[in-house]
Amino acid sequence: MKQVLIAPSILSADFASLGEQVREAKSGGADWIHVDVMDGHFVPQISFGEPIVRALRPVTDLPLDVHLMIEPVDPHLETFAAAGADSITIHVEATPDPAHTLRTIRDLGVRPGLTLRPGTPAWALWPYLDLAEIVLVMTVEPGRGGQSFMPDMLPRIQQVAERLKSLDGDRWLQVDGGLNAATTAAAVTAGAQVIVAGSAVFGDARGVAAAIDGLRRAVAG
Ligand code: DX5
Ligand code: ZN
Repeated sequence: MKQVLIAPSILSADFASLGEQVREAKSGGADWIHVDVMDGHFVPQISFGEPIVRALRPVTDLPLDVHLMIEPVDPHLETFAAAGADSITIHVEATPDPAHTLRTIRDLGVRPGLTLRPGTPAWALWPYLDLAEIVLVMTVEPGRGGQSFMPDMLPRIQQVAERLKSLDGDRWLQVDGGLNAATTAAAVTAGAQVIVAGSAVFGDARGVAAAIDGLRRAVAG
C-alpha cells in the first residue's frame, strides 16, 4: 500500500507571509502544496491566479498541485504549466472535452488530474480515468475553505478506488474539503491516498507542523 500523502492547501494560509507558510509546511512534513485557483465564475469566489504559482516555484521543491476551479480552463493550461505547476487538476464540468484537456496537460509535461463537484454523478469521470494520474473526490462544494466534510462522499471514494485498482500506472486518489484529524481516517479507510487540508493545517493554533503531525497520526489510526 502507498504511503498517504498530506497536501496543505494555501487557500487558508497567511497570504502576507505565503513563502514562509510554505516553508513551514515543508519542514512540518508536507508532501505536496495544494494551490486552489478560483475565478469568480465556475465558483463564486476569486482566490488568485498564476502569479502565486510563479512566486512559490523558487520557494519550495515540493510538488505544486494546482486545482483549477475555472471555466473555461483550456486557455490557461500553458500559463500554469509555465509558472511551475507539477500537477493540474481540472473539473469535468469545466471543459467541453475532458479527454482533450487532460491530454493537453500531459503533453505540457504536467501530471493531469480530474475532479468533480459533489453533485455531479461519479460516472461522469469513468470515460477519462485512464487519462488522469490524480483523481480528486471533492468532499465539500468547491469554492471556499473551512466547510464540513460530506460523509456521503465516502462511498464515492470507495468507488473511485475500486476503479483505479483496475488501471495500471502511478495514480493517486485525492480528497479535498473538510479534512481534519477527525475526518481523515474515514477518507483513508475508504481509499484516499492524498489528503488536502487547508484550515486544518494553516488554521491550527498549535502551528503548521503540529497540525500536519496530527493528520499523520489520524492516518496511522
Ligand atoms: C475548496 C478547495 C479546498 C479548500 C479546502 O474549494 O478546493 O482545497 O482549500 O479547505 P478546507 O481544508 O479548509 O476544507
Ligand atoms: Zn482544492
